[in-house]
Amino acid sequence: MNLDALKALLHARLGLCFEGHGEARLRRAIGERMAALALDGDGAYLARLGGDESELLALASLLTIKETYFYREAQHLRLLTEHLLPRLLRDRAPGVPVRILCAGCATGEEPYSIAIALRERWGDAAARLFRIDACDLDPQAIAQAREGCYRPYALRILDQPRLARWFVPGPHGLQQIAEPLRQGVAFRPMNLLADPYPEDLRGQDVIFYRNLSIYFDAATRAVVLRRLRALLRPGAYLIVGVTETLANGLGLLQLCEHEGVWYFANRSEGVPPARDLNPRNLGMIVPARPRPAGESSVQALVPPLPSTLPTPQPTPDPSPEPLYRRALALAQAERFAAARAVLAPVCAPPDSPARYHALHAHLLLEQGDLAGAATAAQRVLTLDPWSVDALVVRGRVARAQGGLDEAVDYLRRAIYARPDHWPAHFELAECRGATGNLEAARREYRIVLRLLDERRGAADQAGPLPSALPVADLRYLCRARLARLAHPA
Ligand SMILES: C[S@@+](CC[C@H](N)C(=O)[O-])C[C@H]1O[C@@H](n2cnc3c(N)ncnc32)[C@H](O)[C@@H]1O
Repeated sequence: MNLDALKALLHARLGLCFEGHGEARLRRAIGERMAALALDGDGAYLARLGGDESELLALASLLTIKETYFYREAQHLRLLTEHLLPRLLRDRAPGVPVRILCAGCATGEEPYSIAIALRERWGDAAARLFRIDACDLDPQAIAQAREGCYRPYALRILDQPRLARWFVPGPHGLQQIAEPLRQGVAFRPMNLLADPYPEDLRGQDVIFYRNLSIYFDAATRAVVLRRLRALLRPGAYLIVGVTETLANGLGLLQLCEHEGVWYFANRSEGVPPARDLNPRNLGMIVPARPRPAGESSVQALVPPLPSTLPTPQPTPDPSPEPLYRRALALAQAERFAAARAVLAPVCAPPDSPARYHALHAHLLLEQGDLAGAATAAQRVLTLDPWSVDALVVRGRVARAQGGLDEAVDYLRRAIYARPDHWPAHFELAECRGATGNLEAARREYRIVLRLLDERRGAADQAGPLPSALPVADLRYLCRARLARLAHPA
């Protein structure tokens, strides 16, 4: 089957790219659709696809990755309720709701998490203070979101009190989001590539655009970012996934940080004009991954993503090392839930090595489970008190919880054990900066840059675990921080 014309169509209409492993997924999805339509020639299918929007969406539904869960990247919810919304409410005319849009909301876990966080912070008043809209390309996902019924897997990081408060038993043993929350989110199918966006979506105060840009190529990301920006009010905010943040102050939106959490603001002041067509200078969100071909061996280890993500099953191979390596590869590909599922049997035996548990701690941290990550890392430290990976996880958890002195202790121990561990130096620099020890912060940022220069061309990570930030972003951040420390505002 010659896929070129199909790929071009999918790229132009949906922004999706299917090179490398993606091509196998595309072939499977087309096969499935052609069988469903009883078509046997790809020419016939292409003709159908070009003229039939609903077929395009049916194919897209098989191709898009809808991995999501409640309270994913919970630091963004805290940023929203503790920092951004209080400001927006303060400046708002009485009776005018603050507007929040989830772009690429999949099956609804993200907007409902926002709705929960708003209710927990503002009580019933949230219903009149805020308006939440949510959209996704996939009409089936939107239909599911409207139903608001979830399997335990989607709820896995919610604690019991939150579950009991915001969910009711639904059909087929599922948990259904409580009625006032369900009524409080307006879902609609919408293709972020389709022109024009509905008028009534203009005037957003906050847009969540998380874990979606990673599937677009650079040109598409630039287009979508410009369009989303047109929906934002002046002074409004855009929040992207933790692995998508472009560490770049140039461009369309201004990169901001609050307590280690990154976001963008739609402010023109202080944002120099884009200098050229380099995507970074367009204020685009450059994905942490996938990395350029050849830059890491992850692609060879990670099979193509299925169009829907079933609960991953451990492979039948009972020996732990291949499973551990597979879990590592999944972690590098940001498939944290899948990595945890693969890793679980490996960590079960009481004598399993510390590094398996270090990976487990890292995965919990990436999924926003700070308490779980701290416990898992502590277990590693009882097995190996100088596990750099566990010390860094403990440092990152402590920093995220505001325990900066504690974080410094862990990170210094990590650096004592591995003086060239640049992620530990970077974390330490951030802690030093936050505690006002600017000279020490400067010193640490310079160390990171030197270490990265020394290892140019080497792997994109300091040890077995994936880095929280890709090297290019880390370099940029260090330079930006040093510039800011040289000329504090
Ligand atoms: C991985 S999910 C992210 C869900 C959620 N934002 C989160 O962070 O958990 C990506 C979603 O983007 C949607 N998507 C992909 N291409 C899109 C497009 N062109 N327009 C709108 N949504 C799109 C997919 O259908 C999928 O539901």
